[in-house]
Amino acid sequence: MTGAFPYTRLRRNRQSDWVRRLVRETTVTVDDLIWPVFIVDGKDQKQPISSMPGVDRLSIDLLVEKAKQASDFGIPVIALFPYTDPSLKTERAEEAFNPNNLVCRAVSELKKVIPHVGIMCDVALDPYTSHGHDGIMVGNEIDNDLTLEAVVKQSLNQAKAGCDILGPSEMMDGRVGVMRDALEEGGFKNTLIMSYSAKYASKFYGPFRDAVGSKGALKGDKKTYQQDPANSDEALREVALDLDEGADMVMIKPGLPYLDIIRRVKDNFGVPTFAYHVSGEYAMIKAAGEKGWLDADACMFESIQSIKRAGADGILTYYAFDLAQKLQGKKS
Ligand code: PBG
Repeated sequence: MTGAFPYTRLRRNRQSDWVRRLVRETTVTVDDLIWPVFIVDGKDQKQPISSMPGVDRLSIDLLVEKAKQASDFGIPVIALFPYTDPSLKTERAEEAFNPNNLVCRAVSELKKVIPHVGIMCDVALDPYTSHGHDGIMVGNEIDNDLTLEAVVKQSLNQAKAGCDILGPSEMMDGRVGVMRDALEEGGFKNTLIMSYSAKYASKFYGPFRDAVGSKGALKGDKKTYQQDPANSDEALREVALDLDEGADMVMIKPGLPYLDIIRRVKDNFGVPTFAYHVSGEYAMIKAAGEKGWLDADACMFESIQSIKRAGADGILTYYAFDLAQKLQGKKS
């Protein structure tokens, strides 16, 4: 790095909008956005989630309408999260394997109407377990290898429904490998796996658990399977294993508090790397915006831009729909 004042004046490159645009290093486009949505059974249902202002649980009919708009804005992928009626939750999450469950019905409806939009589904049992954990419990433990059997069944169930991207988010060891084998054998060689590789045991998931109705159900915490927020090297080992086992893309989660992890993963592996700007990150900005303490739209954008600057190729964010709409407005 060379340059001394006054030969170098860094403010020259900042003096007006045109030059700022010219030298800008990071550009956020609609192509970077994955839009997570919450679905609920029934017709004409639009249920606000109090801890996520602006986000509603939608029944499939209303989701289809909104998804058409998202598709018009150019959003490449929609990620589905079901709110499961408590009467369908069981110890062993049988509803996850029901070919006619809410998620599978939503996938097939969306694929009929917007076939060119990628549909992503979580692979994890927490929407379906009576105890709210992502895996199968034996005694007080989440049994890794029993959960892998469930992971395979849930993956195939969702792939059969037409899901394009499976997102294993349950942090069991060996999950990507068993999924990839099952997909190859089952005739789903093109089904993508975006692994939640470095998923931390974060308190920023609180509002999401309200949204899917697992909060009241959850017994204890997820620290025996999700990563310790204090660790960074461990994230690289998780990513390396998932790639070896057949993941096409990897994800870091949450987003903004883990920018250092995103950068390390991108620099070390050079693979498609995504980050999840999670429910708590969204809620904080929205809440402060509602109080008039900050400009929520600008802070949402800055967060997403920062995640991209840190090395993410794309971002899962509840703000995707609104941002895509704004970006669309700018183009025309
Ligand atoms: C569940 C899952 C969670 C999220 C995505 N999939 C929550 C959790 O692990 O408890 C969190 C998303 C968010 O907070 O926005 N396997």
